[in-house]
Amino acid sequence: MAILKIARMGNPVLLRQCDPVPDPTAPEIRRLIADMMETMEDAPGVGLAAPQVFVPLRLFVFRVPGDRASADPNSAGVPNTVIINPEIEAIGEETGLNWEGCLSIPEMRAVVPRALHIKYRGVDMNGEPVEGTASRFHARVMQHEYDHLDGILYPMRVTDFRYFGFNRELDQAAEAQQRQQTGQS
Ligand code: NI
Repeated sequence: MAILKIARMGNPVLLRQCDPVPDPTAPEIRRLIADMMETMEDAPGVGLAAPQVFVPLRLFVFRVPGDRASADPNSAGVPNTVIINPEIEAIGEETGLNWEGCLSIPEMRAVVPRALHIKYRGVDMNGEPVEGTASRFHARVMQHEYDHLDGILYPMRVTDFRYFGFNRELDQAAEAQQRQQTGQS
């Protein structure tokens, strides 16, 4: 296993339409998945798509940490998971706004609109079909990673650029606002 180098925004590999994985059970794909999971954990991140490690193929890994899931009764934690040749479809029209970051755009985040509920299908690393539904944080992570396979980065989805910035500045602004609200100075 190995920690892989992560492509950063500006690298053309992140703008490509990725190709389907011809053989999901091939040994090199299995190795890629193991390395991507290790890289995601090391970063640390909650998702990583193959083009982010310079492999323009349609697969991504993700996880939903328990503490991110607990805020939402409809969504439990998800261990490290891979989905190969995925398809994602929104269920209903409902969208939600929330913060997103990306390992290819370090130290920044933005508020991004996403479908609240999705259904997905694809295959796992044994070539077996997988399908299911996801909501909220789980659905958001999958939509973000899926976008990478079509060369779409989250800033392309931002609708209000007042909510796009560097983590450090946004954290300081949020702290200042909270101090003001609680009457402290
Ligand atoms: Ni990303």
